[in-house]
Amino acid sequence: MVKRTSLHGMWSSRFVFVLAVAGSAVGLGNIWKFPYMAGQNGGGAFVLFYLVCVVAIGLPIMISEIMIGRRGRRNPIATMRIVGEEEGSSPSWGLVGVLGILAGFLILSFYSVIAGWALSYFFLSLGGRFAQATPETIGRLFGGLLGNWQAMAIWHTIFMLLTIAIVARGVERGLEKFVRLAMPGLLVLLLILLVYAVIAADFAAGWKFLFRPDFAALTPGAMLEAMGQAFFTLSVGMGAIMAYGAYLPEGTSILRTSAWVVAADTSIALLSGLIIFPIVFANGLDPASGPGLIFETLPLAFGNMPGGRFLAPIFFGLLVFAAWTSAIGLLEPAVAWSVETHGRSRRVAGIVIGTVIWALGFLTILSFNVLSEFRLFGGTIFDNIDHLASNIFLPLGGLFITIFGGWVMCKNSSADELDLGSGPAYGAWRFLARWLAPAAVLVVFLHATGILGRFGLV
Ligand code: PHE
Repeated sequence: MVKRTSLHGMWSSRFVFVLAVAGSAVGLGNIWKFPYMAGQNGGGAFVLFYLVCVVAIGLPIMISEIMIGRRGRRNPIATMRIVGEEEGSSPSWGLVGVLGILAGFLILSFYSVIAGWALSYFFLSLGGRFAQATPETIGRLFGGLLGNWQAMAIWHTIFMLLTIAIVARGVERGLEKFVRLAMPGLLVLLLILLVYAVIAADFAAGWKFLFRPDFAALTPGAMLEAMGQAFFTLSVGMGAIMAYGAYLPEGTSILRTSAWVVAADTSIALLSGLIIFPIVFANGLDPASGPGLIFETLPLAFGNMPGGRFLAPIFFGLLVFAAWTSAIGLLEPAVAWSVETHGRSRRVAGIVIGTVIWALGFLTILSFNVLSEFRLFGGTIFDNIDHLASNIFLPLGGLFITIFGGWVMCKNSSADELDLGSGPAYGAWRFLARWLAPAAVLVVFLHATGILGRFGLV
């Protein structure tokens, strides 16, 4: 077959690609979302099921996404269409790319609002507002932010502008320089916080909560949330990783890259949980308090530890960086699509698409104040946007992607692209991609609708 080249340039090295994918994966999903979801879903059993999903579903789908992306070398919609046709299947596979771009819109709309919270906490900590913090003072500080939708709108706007600015500059100039920065620093800060959690908080209680499974808490709904979280945290199921794969030079090991990224992403989420829950239990806070969890716990640690005055702004600054590198991945597929299909410049595409997402973000902002009492399917508007995108669109997109990689692409193509020979690693991937991952996604979906229970299957 003809080898295509990307229209947006290429990553300059394998290492930069690993950093880019890791930068996309590691973000608010690990540090903000994982702890609060684990807290709301009862801890241990949720965590265990999430880990199973990461390995059995997330990893093979990440491999498939990079593989398909590099094969097609276009935006996710065009890539799925072109490779679909090339493999003798239908061009309608492009619709999977459309689903992904929609998911990206929804996710970025709330992601940017939460990143705005982190941005605001960066400035609060610069001003020394966490000094001698107690649960009450921190609760009031956070409540003050949530109650002020204008302030939230300003932070959200700044974060969206930052994201658009990078995507508008393009892959090599915008993304590359950037992804080298955030990760190592964040890891160091997390390790310092871990030391605090071990010495000064209730580490034993936190550990128990995270790792001692109580299977009664693992409801069908919690399983769906855990699976959705696995997709969300790895950035898979929506074409972000596929878009990055399109810029990957030939001859890079897709398997090794994916394994590294999955390991790094999972470690950071667990690390974050091991920091948050000891603080929760030491201060008599509620692990199930929801999306505000890190904003009500971490300031307690910073406010009461030696050097916290200086570490807090560094931490929240790095968190904004990590969110930034993820947000770029959320915007890239739509921008690449617009540039390739409509011949727009990256700048115009970034501004137009970014503005639509920015406007959508107001639904999330208002969910925490003006519309906080409004309920749809038992949740706020934000809950619904998150649930639809993370727990339904991403797994659905992932299901199609893994079917595509495992069934539509012939053995020659995937073996050629993955370059693993016919050894056990290739066999394992193919088994997971063809059978286990699709079956698991379907079973969790059906289980969550209550259908399996109705037929006495579980
Ligand atoms: N994985 C990112 C995080 O954990 C979020 C994300 C999802 C980014 C999907 C890109 C695509 O924060």
